[in-house]
Amino acid sequence: MAIERTLSIIKPDAVAKNVIGKIYSRFETNGLKIVASKMAWLSAQEAGQFYAVHKERPFFKDLVDFMISGPVMIQVLEGENAIAKNRELMGATDPKKADPGTIRADFAESIDANAVHGSDGADTAAVEIGFFFPGMNVFSGR
Ligand code: CMP
Repeated sequence: MAIERTLSIIKPDAVAKNVIGKIYSRFETNGLKIVASKMAWLSAQEAGQFYAVHKERPFFKDLVDFMISGPVMIQVLEGENAIAKNRELMGATDPKKADPGTIRADFAESIDANAVHGSDGADTAAVEIGFFFPGMNVFSGR
């Protein structure tokens, strides 16, 4: 299995709930290492640029407004099949549809306030890691 890196964001709702540690624990107990991290309060420009792929979607403004409503915790996770593994741990985008025991089922309230973001594929992971951690390469195995 491939060792990968993926970008994860703990969103303002989960930071405000004081569950960064609980979410980190889920990563760590499921074989994902935190290899970079920083807390940030994003500007509208940064959030809009990060989510530029969604800029034509009806939820774009609400998404940006929510992402700048408080600090976020941003990390790079590394491990076997890290991209899919992180998405499995997060659960479905809409917490009402997320499987029991997933991060979103346990910590999220709504599709906007959905606790976490995770890259959805290898190309996206490369772009998203570079966005927040410039100069950090996507891991290619050891
Ligand atoms: P995230 O994984 O961060 O990627 C884009 C975000 O847009 C998503 O999580 C949701 O929080 C938000 N969003 C709001 N409405 C929708 C929707 N209808 N479909 C997908 N994402 C949505």
